[in-house]
Amino acid sequence: MEIPKASSLILKHSLDAPLAGLDTVDRREWPPVAIVFWAFRIMVGLGLLMLLLAAASLLARLRRRLFEWSLLHRFALVMGPAGFVAVIAGWITTEVGRQPYTVYGLLRTADSASPLDAPAVAASLLAFIVVYFIVFGAGVFYILRLMNRPPQPGEAGPAHDQPMRAAGITPAPQVAEGAN
Ligand code: HEM
Repeated sequence: MEIPKASSLILKHSLDAPLAGLDTVDRREWPPVAIVFWAFRIMVGLGLLMLLLAAASLLARLRRRLFEWSLLHRFALVMGPAGFVAVIAGWITTEVGRQPYTVYGLLRTADSASPLDAPAVAASLLAFIVVYFIVFGAGVFYILRLMNRPPQPGEAGPAHDQPMRAAGITPAPQVAEGAN
């Protein structure tokens, strides 16, 4: 599906600005095209699915079926990792898309790589993997244990019957309260 002149407008802020295609670029200057192509589509596809989920949830809410529509619940569940995957896909799009340059037109990646031997890089990577597995593993274990504990009969409810504001809190009301 093509929207005429849209790319020119977005990228060059003019309806009739010519856009040079990849075929005008020397092949030695090309990024790995397939990775950029698919990473971008994964990102945009997930973004559109997020919008769909939001719209479907709003519709369910308006029809008072938000808590009964099990298909929507499954959709929301599988969309759980979507934000994370979309961020990684977006990042891959930009980083792979700028290749073979670190700074476009000025510094090639091959010239900006640090003079480190592969074993040194492998060792620090391995250390990161081990430490992160331990830290996140402990965190996930702890959270799952908390979630595993069902509510107990007679357990006290939350201390506040109003939702507590978690954002936008400024000291002004407290200062005013203190003044009174
Ligand atoms: C809905 C449709 C979306 C469109 C049209 C879109 C478009 C773009 C574009 C044009 C870029 C810049 C690529 C470049 O550098 O040339 C980009 C980068 C990026 N996008 Fe998306 N995106 C969408 C959805 C998303 C979603 C849902 C996420 C995450 C939840 C996301 C995360 C990112 C990230 C992390 C980058 C890299 C930013 C950077 O490193 O500079 N995008 N996106």
